[in-house]
Amino acid sequence: MHTLAFDVYATLINTYGMVDLLQRYIGDDQAVPFATLWRDKQLEYSFRRSMMNRYEPFYTCTADSLQFCIEKFDVKLTRDQQFSLIKRYQSLPVFKDVLPALATLSGRSDIQMFALTNGPLEDVEKLFDGDGILSYFKDIISADEIRKYKPDPAVYQHFLERSGASAETSWLISGNSFDVIGARSFGMQGIWIKRNLDQQYDPWGPKPTHMIQSMGQLESLF
Ligand code: LAC
Repeated sequence: MHTLAFDVYATLINTYGMVDLLQRYIGDDQAVPFATLWRDKQLEYSFRRSMMNRYEPFYTCTADSLQFCIEKFDVKLTRDQQFSLIKRYQSLPVFKDVLPALATLSGRSDIQMFALTNGPLEDVEKLFDGDGILSYFKDIISADEIRKYKPDPAVYQHFLERSGASAETSWLISGNSFDVIGARSFGMQGIWIKRNLDQQYDPWGPKPTHMIQSMGQLESLF
């Protein structure tokens, strides 16, 4: 049995899915750089909170990093606009290659699929339900359950305990290189999805077991 652990944000779910709102609020030029910094800072805040033993849920990191970006870009966003951005984060779209790949993989009796995410269960459940992919997963395993964030090895260990799988037969699938490196360093297999040419793998730490450009390439690996 192959156990697949899908990361969520920037792997299944497109974290640029709010760019149209940002274009309207702050203009075409700033929208993508704003969204990029928002995501980078969100991750940084989650890592720092985890290291400091000051856990706060992922949505708090999302809200705090939005405030950082508003100040950094020196833009005015009304309360309603900020609310709309946060609300959009709770209903971000899946990447186009996700649904067909999950449908194909779910037909394989030698594969079981989980989500392994830093997002809290309620948020991810709502996201998946809205995007029509919830039923493909045996379970959603959240870092929130142990109040630490990936790439802390405790989160990957928690995954093994919750899923009952062994590290050697568990595959972390992620568009985030920090996550692939974290899982590989822990002892799991890791697949990096590089959908865009400008995505870069960190120049240190373990390499991914496989690198793919689209979820459609997953099935042939097993
Ligand atoms: C997730 C973020 C970190 O765990 O991508 O879903």
